Order: sequence, then C-alpha cells, then structure tokens
Amino acid sequence: MAQISNKEALAFRLQKMYWMEAEMEQLGLWEARIELMGEDAEAIELLSADSERHHVILEKWLQKANIEIPTSKPAGLPSKNFDFDGMDSPEMFRNIMKYEILARDTYIEVRKSREAIKDLFIEESVQSEFIEDMGTLAKEEEQHRRICEERIGGFRKITGRSL
Ligand SMILES: [Fe+2]
Repeated sequence: MAQISNKEALAFRLQKMYWMEAEMEQLGLWEARIELMGEDAEAIELLSADSERHHVILEKWLQKANIEIPTSKPAGLPSKNFDFDGMDSPEMFRNIMKYEILARDTYIEVRKSREAIKDLFIEESVQSEFIEDMGTLAKEEEQHRRICEERIGGFRKITGRSL
C-alpha cells in the first residue's frame, strides 16, 4: 500500500475509509436476505454495528480536519457494492475478509503517517487522540478479520494452527 506522504493523501485516505465503513455498515441487510443463522448472523451483526461506529469516528475526524465529507464514492474504491446473492456463508465471509484486511492495513498506514498527521492537526493533543483512534480502528479491523476467518471455517483444520 502506498505510503501517505502528505496531508492531501491522508485526507483522501480518510474520505475513502469513511465511504468504505458506510458500505460495511450495510452488511447487516444481507442477514435476512441470505437467511444467515446462528453464529453467522451474530458475526454479520457485529461487523455491521462496528462499521457504523467506525463511520461515526471517521466523520468526527473529517470534521475536525475540515475535510469535505464525501457524498459520492471516492475514486479508487471498487465500483460494485457488496453482492452475496447465490453465495454460501463461507464464501460471503471470505469476500468480506478482504475488506477487513484492507481496512486494517489502511488504518495502520494512516496511524504511521506522522508527518502528514502533524500537517493536518496543529495541536499535539489532537494528533495523539487521532493516532490513538486509528490504533483502535486497526485493532478492531483485525478482530473482524479473525471473525471472518472463523466463519470461513476449515482453515485451521488445514494448517493445524490458528493465525
Ligand atoms: Fe470491519
């Protein structure tokens, strides 16, 4: 993933994540549509609820940084929304997991972009708060990745270990 070298790149990355979290928030709609049950349903509800929370956190930061809240899909995101029609649940979670990994890695990259963060926020306390929030988001996306991995199933049986 490209390094974030200036505040414009950082702003754009935050706009993309804002949009992606909003799309992930919609995952909950698929619960009834493809009749998920039990732990699959619980997992999708959690991913959806967390994404809603993440969406709100990103909105807060876009506002604090005076970055425009995107009203249409930013460039560089897949043009298609989620479509799980005809998939079984492991297949669906395998697809979702790709986005969880992308989200995790993006938050890690954002968190590391110290020069850009300093350019974006003048106050040191605000910079620290931002870095802390991005760390929390990265950690939660890693939890989501694990949840997806569990729902895909079979993986541990093949490798004999849990990642
Ligand atoms: Fe997530």
